[in-house]
Amino acid sequence: MRKLLIVWHSMTGGSEALARAALAGAVEVEARLLHAADVAAADMLGADGYIFVFPENLAAISGVMKAFFDRTYYPCLGQIEGRAFVVIVCAGSDGRNAVAQAERIATGWRLKKVANSMIVCTHAQTPEAILAAKTISTVDLQNARDIGGTLAAGLAMGVF
Ligand SMILES: Cc1cc2nc3c(=O)[nH]c(=O)nc-3n(C[C@H](O)[C@H](O)[C@H](O)COP(=O)(O)O)c2cc1C
Repeated sequence: MRKLLIVWHSMTGGSEALARAALAGAVEVEARLLHAADVAAADMLGADGYIFVFPENLAAISGVMKAFFDRTYYPCLGQIEGRAFVVIVCAGSDGRNAVAQAERIATGWRLKKVANSMIVCTHAQTPEAILAAKTISTVDLQNARDIGGTLAAGLAMGVF
């Protein structure tokens, strides 16, 4: 069975909910959900496709997620070329820089982008709202679930 790895980081729960939704949709593969801090290069090497789910913090990939990319980038370079990936970013109001950074890293790995990156804005603007636990809408959770389903189906059929 093909293997899908979902790597996630979340401070206030939004990205985690999206990652769990993507996992729920990935029914046709052996899917694993791993917190970014727990992912080793071997986990990346052992998967056939990836979904990266994380918040935009300070106009960038969140620090824990960035540390995951920093830790695994060179150990995986040249060994995962052509594998499928999708990015899901949870943001307050923007998210584009985080997407661009992650897509650039994935391009360096020569991964294959198989669906448009998804940005979910939680519209948190004040410090209180930014630090509060996030509730993701049913529509956004369904979209994340669909991404998991699409990636899994493509992997299972050998399209990706
Ligand atoms: C330190 C910090 C910096 C942030 N910077 C940005 C930012 O640059 N752009 C943005 O759209 N949202 C920003 N946010 C808002 C988060 O992206 C938003 O609250 C998101 O829903 C958090 O996702 P999470 O629940 O998975 O942690 C920031 C939040 C924190 C805590």
